[in-house]
Order: sequence, then structure tokens, then C-alpha cells
Amino acid sequence: MKVTNLDERIHVLDNSSNVLSVIKRIANSGVQEEAFYIFDVGDIVRKHQIWKEKLPRVEPYYAVKCNDNITVLEVLAALGTGFDCASKAEINKVLNMGVSPSKIIFANPAKPASHLRYSSSVGVDIMTVDNESELHKIKYLHPTAKIVIRIRCDAEVALCPLGIKFGCDATTEAPNLIRTSRTLGLDVVGVSFHVGSGCQDPPVYLRAIRMARDLFDFAKEVGFKPYLLDIGGGYPGDKNTSIDKMADTINQGIDECFNTDDVKIIAEPGRFFVASAFTLAVSIHSKRSVRGDKTCPNVTTHNMYYINDGVYGSFNCLLYDHQTVKPLPLKNGSGKMIPSSIWGPTCDGLDQVVENVLLHEMELGDWFIFENMGAYTLPVASTFNGFPVPKVHIIAENHIWRSLKNNSPITEEHFVMGNVPDNLNYGLDIGGSDMVTWTNAKVEISANNLLIDSSNSSNFIYDYVEVDPLK
Ligand SMILES: Cc1ncc(COP(=O)(O)O)c(C=O)c1O
Repeated sequence: MKVTNLDERIHVLDNSSNVLSVIKRIANSGVQEEAFYIFDVGDIVRKHQIWKEKLPRVEPYYAVKCNDNITVLEVLAALGTGFDCASKAEINKVLNMGVSPSKIIFANPAKPASHLRYSSSVGVDIMTVDNESELHKIKYLHPTAKIVIRIRCDAEVALCPLGIKFGCDATTEAPNLIRTSRTLGLDVVGVSFHVGSGCQDPPVYLRAIRMARDLFDFAKEVGFKPYLLDIGGGYPGDKNTSIDKMADTINQGIDECFNTDDVKIIAEPGRFFVASAFTLAVSIHSKRSVRGDKTCPNVTTHNMYYINDGVYGSFNCLLYDHQTVKPLPLKNGSGKMIPSSIWGPTCDGLDQVVENVLLHEMELGDWFIFENMGAYTLPVASTFNGFPVPKVHIIAENHIWRSLKNNSPITEEHFVMGNVPDNLNYGLDIGGSDMVTWTNAKVEISANNLLIDSSNSSNFIYDYVEVDPLK
């Protein structure tokens, strides 16, 4: 596949570089102002190895919605995964990489007609359904579709429960859908479920697999030959998390209920593959120090840091995906820790990234990094208020390059060699190095040059200090 966008090349690191050293190099270059991501391709390759090892009978169909970065998709295609697509555009993106339509499941139980027509025209036949009217629509627009009945089985605890929106009752509605499919002449090929994204209840997979088994038996009685079990998503993907417990439960369920090669088992992991592969670096462009009252005006009681990405950008995951994020200052601090909050760049008060954290004093131009930013961040980010979505710089270690370079759709052309990681500077936004001057504009603050907000009875004080104009 031809690579046309230099920003999307994978930069092969020399042996002495890694994610952190690359971040430091860019952040400390003196010309970088905008927030940026480092995407480590090797992290996805390692996740894929873990998946194969822990869940050997389950074929992953990556959930494109989670992060549709083209290199993420290409790497996963090169590793041989299938894809869970929710729309025409997602299907189109995956097909454009040369992936076979048979490796796509259209896993949206409520499909707009034009998207269904498109899936029919390109041969994407496997699709999930949880309601009767969808069956009639499919009968009309894609009569040769292969129907997968999506049932509801919710985790007791999940970051994002999905059962409230999708999944039919396995004992009442699902049998009816299977019967209706028979009447309509549609082909029911299997059962799917999604226990909820960010699932924290591993035993739920066993409950769901047992329900699916009962429906397989029912579908057979009705005259179908079901062969596909889709165990959905829900697996954790952050650093230091593990799928071991889930894998144990799933493998137990498979052994108990589907101990046969006649049934193909797939899953739709999203978060698992991408969360830890993306690290975000953001810089502080403004700072407001809230000082003590009249008796201790020199004491900073709270620092408010304004950074160049927020809840309308990458940190939308705080609102929509209920994630929590941890700011890691890029350089070592010293002195006492000060209660601090971190805010996004827009003018909205909602745009708060971290509410309360203890940090050493930080200055304009200093950087934070946020790990585990690969899931449900970039695809949802907007440029609200004119602040750009951070660029993604892609890196891989030498052995990852060697293992991937000729696995279609990845080719030699995807990589940049030599002079690395200097060439990561491609496409950087040049912020200028004048930040240093601002940082150095140190001013002693005394009670006399503080303007006290007398209307506010709390000890919140606005500092008003005359300094030389900024250069
Ligand atoms: C149908 C479907 N499949 C898979 C996923 C991916 O889930 P996760 O990222 O939890 O693995 C989602 C997420 O919302 C989904 O709706």
C-alpha cells in the first residue's frame, strides 16, 4: 500500500531510543509547542502475542471505533486480525487496506439503510441484530446477510455499560428473532454479546457464553446451522493490566459449551489493543497561582495549569469513556508539593483535565505526559475553540520493523530509517523558543501589589502584578 502522508510513516528507532527518550527529544527541542502523541507500534504487536497466547481459540476482530488511526488498522491487518465495523465509513476504511470482506463483522445492531446497502454491495455479510425491524430491513436491503443475534448480558461493573442500548433478552426476544429470521428466509449464523466496555466482572463472560450455547441449540432446532460465537469487547488495555482472569473464564466457557472445531469464536476487542500504545505529551502554556490570604500572600495555595489539550480534544475520554488520567511531569521537580489542577485550552469551565493533584511547582513550557491514551480519545477529539487535535508520531523498535515490514498491507515504504529520531520533527508545529523568556520573568510578590477580591469572602485572591511587556 502506498504511503502518501509522511506524518504516518513509522520511525524505526535506534537501539538507544524508546518512547520516553523520543518524547523528551521532541519536547525539549525548543521548537515544539503543540501537544503530540507517540504511538508505539511494538505495543500492539505485543498485545497481539498476549491475545494469541491467552485466548488461542478466539480470533480478534478489532473494534475500529476505538481508534481508527490508519497505522493501527494496518498493523492489525498485517497481524491477521479481523475488524468490527459500525458504519459504512469504517467498512470502507478497512476494505481500502485490502482486507477481505469476510474478515469484517458489521457489529452495529441499528444500521442506517444506506450503510446496509453499502455492506451488501461490497460483500460484508456478517452482521449483528437485536430487533425485529432490523431483520425486515435486512431482508429488503441485504437478503443474503449472515445474521448474528446480539444478546444482552451485562457486567456488574463496567466503565461504559452498553446493555442499556443494545442486546436483546436471551430467553424471550432472541428465540423470537431466530423464528422470525426463519420465516423471512434469513440465515442465522451465530450469537454475539458485549458485556460492557472496561468490564470489571470476568465471570460475566461465562454467563454470556452459556446463554449463547442455549441459543445455538434453539437455532438448530429451528433449522439453522449456527457456527459463529462473538464474545464482543470489554478487555482492559492499560499498562499493568491483564486479561488473565477474563481469559480463564472465557476458556472455561468455551471448553464447557463450545468444545468443537465446528464453531468459530471471535471477539471484538478495542481498548485492549490500543490503550497503552499511545502516550500523549502536553505542555503548559499558562499558569495561575492562587495565593493565600492577607496574612500569607506569598504562599501559593493552589496552582492552575493550562495545557494544550483538553476535554474537547483527547481528554474527551474523561467525559465519554469515564476514564481517569494521571499527569506525569516530564522533568523531575523539587521543593514542596502544591495542590494543583490541570485545565484544557478552551474557554469552557468544563474543560478540566485533572481536578486536584499534588505537584512540584511547574513553569510555562514544562511538559506532562499521559500514558494509556490510545482508546476512545483521538476518534472523538474536536478542534473546538480552534485548538488542534495533537499529531501522532509513530515509532517502532528495530525488531518490530523487521517482523512487520513485508506483511501486507505494511510495506517497506511505511518505515523511515536512518537519522532517527531526528526525522520525527516532520510536521511539527513550530512554537518558537520564546517561552523561555516568559518563564524567566520572575517577580517578587508582596502584599502591596496584590489586588484582593473583597467581594469574595473566601481566601481566593487575584494577583495583579505589573511586569515588563512580554517580548
Ligand atoms: C459492538 C462493540 N464491539 C466492540 C467494542 C469494543 O469494546 P472494548 O473497547 O471494550 O473492547 C464496542 C465498544 O463500544 C462495541 O460497541
